[in-house]
Amino acid sequence: MTARAVDGPDYARLIGADRVHGSLYTDPRVFADELERIWYRTWVYVGHESELPQPNDYVVKCIGPQSIIMTRDRQGTVHLLLNRCSHRANQICEAARGNSGALRCQYHGWTFGTDGALLGYPFRQGYDGNEAKASLGLARLPRVDSYRGFVFGSFAAEGPSLREHLGAAADALDRLARLSPEGEVELTAGWLRHEVAANWKMLVENETDGYHPQFVHASIFEVGQSHVAAMYSEKSLAAARDLGGGHTEHDLRPQFRADDLPLGWFGTTEDRLPDYARSMRELHGDTAAREIMVDGSPHVMIFPNLFIAEIQVFVIQPTAVDRTVQHVTPLRFKGAPDLNRRLLHQVSGSVGPAGLLLADDSEMYERNQRGVASRAPEWLALRRGLHRERIDEDGHLAGAVTDETTQRGIWRHIRHLMTEGGTP
Ligand code: FES
Ligand SMILES: [Fe+2]
Repeated sequence: MTARAVDGPDYARLIGADRVHGSLYTDPRVFADELERIWYRTWVYVGHESELPQPNDYVVKCIGPQSIIMTRDRQGTVHLLLNRCSHRANQICEAARGNSGALRCQYHGWTFGTDGALLGYPFRQGYDGNEAKASLGLARLPRVDSYRGFVFGSFAAEGPSLREHLGAAADALDRLARLSPEGEVELTAGWLRHEVAANWKMLVENETDGYHPQFVHASIFEVGQSHVAAMYSEKSLAAARDLGGGHTEHDLRPQFRADDLPLGWFGTTEDRLPDYARSMRELHGDTAAREIMVDGSPHVMIFPNLFIAEIQVFVIQPTAVDRTVQHVTPLRFKGAPDLNRRLLHQVSGSVGPAGLLLADDSEMYERNQRGVASRAPEWLALRRGLHRERIDEDGHLAGAVTDETTQRGIWRHIRHLMTEGGTP
């Protein structure tokens, strides 16, 4: 037996420049390492400020298998608290959301404020009064920050700032906000949860995989007479971009600009959404508003768990090496009720309980998971588009939209984090 086999997986060997080893999706030791080196170290998306409109609002969220309570305290500050009573570790919040000045543990009745402070406990005579109440508050994530209302947390006390972590991906969130006549998005339409028997990385890789739509989603394209099929063809002008830091995107703008149709990205026209088009033109002027409506919404996978897919937001939650939950909600643009109504219908059609799009992808995730468990061959090939990769005008590695530039970018960052010395 080699020294490496004793030490654990050799990530530098298992993650190559144009291939990755199947065990990375199936080995429980890899999953345990990923929790420590990725999920409990880097910035992870948790929730959106719009989910907490009032003081003392709370929602239960997650970072991988960890349950997190996102709260807004009485003063309006957002906190990320661990969903674990500081008495004997009972989970405090069972309900997905609520509003309360005192979160009460069901086991022995300790109560906590929405800022995490211990407020009190029943039968006071059982304590001598000397316990340090201040140290018995709920545990919290050491770092919390937000960008455009998207709240991220990190279990690491130190590391790059959120803005540094987001890097070029911040631009996608800016573009998203610009589509709102009030400059803000809201995630207030409620969440659907889809669980799949697959490793989380398959989902991350698939979110910016432009090679599969023509095949996996052929039926929905046919029924919906969608423009999306052409977007993911050999002739498409769209690009796959590696934004660095594990973040990737499909930049669809080159194709949308060639088509030159305001709201074409949304499969509609200005006369179908007159209120929205008017608000945008009033705010930005005709030329800029037209550009924004032609360019449309981003398609970006913010590593490791936030996927913005034009009309909806997915949050990826790994729960075991072969189990992942996808939380999904429609985007809502503040000040755009007519657009939001249509968005809701589109999202129900694509990822709702009877939706076609996510069902197709989920089937692929689970088949893929069964495939990687095969004994031979052991490697997955990731070399599509290597020969035509280029550095684009923004300095990012880019390829055709059907290329695996994005998957290679994701793996390059995972390799960096998983091998020794890799900083987040
Ligand atoms: S475990 Fe919460 S009050 Fe005892
Ligand atoms: Fe898909």
